[in-house]
Amino acid sequence: MNILVLGSGGREHTFAWKIAQSSLCDKLFVAPGNSGTAEIATNINVSVTDFESIKKQVLNNNIEMVVVGPEDPLVKGVHDFFLNDDELKHVSVIGPQKEAAELEGSKEFAKEFLYRHNIPTAAYESFTKDTVEKGYAFLETLNPPYVLKADGLAAGKGVVILEDLDEAKAELKSMLVDAKFGEASTKVVIEEFLDGIELSCFVLTDGKNYKILPTAKDYKRIGEGDTGLNTGGMGAVSPVPFATDEFLNKIEERIVKPTINGFKKDNLPYVGFVFIGLIKVGDDPKVIEYNVRMGDPETEVVLPRLKNDFVEILQAMSNGTLDKINIEIDERAATTIMLVSGGYPEAYEKGKEITGVNTIEGSIPFHAGAILKDGKIVTSGGRVMAITSYGNTYQEAIKKSYQNIEKLHFDKMNYRKDIGFDLQK
Ligand code: AMP
Ligand code: GLY
Repeated sequence: MNILVLGSGGREHTFAWKIAQSSLCDKLFVAPGNSGTAEIATNINVSVTDFESIKKQVLNNNIEMVVVGPEDPLVKGVHDFFLNDDELKHVSVIGPQKEAAELEGSKEFAKEFLYRHNIPTAAYESFTKDTVEKGYAFLETLNPPYVLKADGLAAGKGVVILEDLDEAKAELKSMLVDAKFGEASTKVVIEEFLDGIELSCFVLTDGKNYKILPTAKDYKRIGEGDTGLNTGGMGAVSPVPFATDEFLNKIEERIVKPTINGFKKDNLPYVGFVFIGLIKVGDDPKVIEYNVRMGDPETEVVLPRLKNDFVEILQAMSNGTLDKINIEIDERAATTIMLVSGGYPEAYEKGKEITGVNTIEGSIPFHAGAILKDGKIVTSGGRVMAITSYGNTYQEAIKKSYQNIEKLHFDKMNYRKDIGFDLQK
């Protein structure tokens, strides 16, 4: 079977790396891909939201399965586009349909879903321009810090957490009345602040059956000790040491089962990955958010621990036979460290040559914002490359990644040197 992966980050390189290992995959394509996917697949220079061009490529290359990496095409309805097209409807698409992708596309939709299905989450109310006064009054009933979330997709920037009540009111006004995040902040969800440690849980579903992948923890802030601006993710660890069997059991019973049953009850068409962002409050898991895709860089530590043939799993998701699959997980820990461009997540330069990639031993470099130019690997984004390693412990794995990073270089290369710092007992 010929397979197309949509996307160009470390997550998509990891998908391609895992799919390429399967004998069920004949030809593998990635659109638009990066320097890493170019080594193991054919890159197609097409944007992930240019559905008409994707259609042409799918037909020209006899592609029978499309694995969608990022949320954007899902929220824009790429799966529905395939189903509604006579020439494409036989193609398997891994990723939920538009209606279900609203779980990531709208915070209010997600909160209503969580409440409707009695899934533990922060208390909330949502407001529009017309109810901004009610929003101020609601803020006055809460204890600080105040959590304000733009309803729609805001490139990961739509969540603002403030200590001061007046600042929170001003922020609410800025989002609703001054359209700080454009369309995305036409509605704002205000939430109770939850205090705890975060982790991510990844679930595969065919719409009725589910399988749980290993947990992971990512490090979102640019600075050591979890300080500074939010990024897409600076590193990740799997499994999460504090996720004991008892805690995992709570996640499955209280969150995963009602989520999948909720899809069925609400007729939400869902074949794909469910990324559940969780926070451990006391000994209990609560949902912070749903994403309708895998995490990045969590994928770079979760998929390397999956022993199964990935294509067999993807086929089972698409065929509704996920119950026949027995997920096998490597006992070892996996960690990844993200190399980023100096300045990221603010302005940064591109086009810097990356050297030393071929000298890496015992780690896997998953390329992200990196492309081939005149035979050289050069930077093309903020997050450049994720260096993944295995270890008997996460500490051992992290050490291996840092050893290999010593061999890598590009101008203004930056990375966090403290990944895993908060996991020590
Ligand atoms: P999100 O974009 O929903 O992932 O939110 C971004 C980050 O904001 C999360 O990863 C949390 O660190 C934080 N956050 C979101 N909601 C809450 C909440 N209710 N309480 C505490 N922190 C939160
Ligand atoms: N690493 C967080 C995300 O993929 O959204």
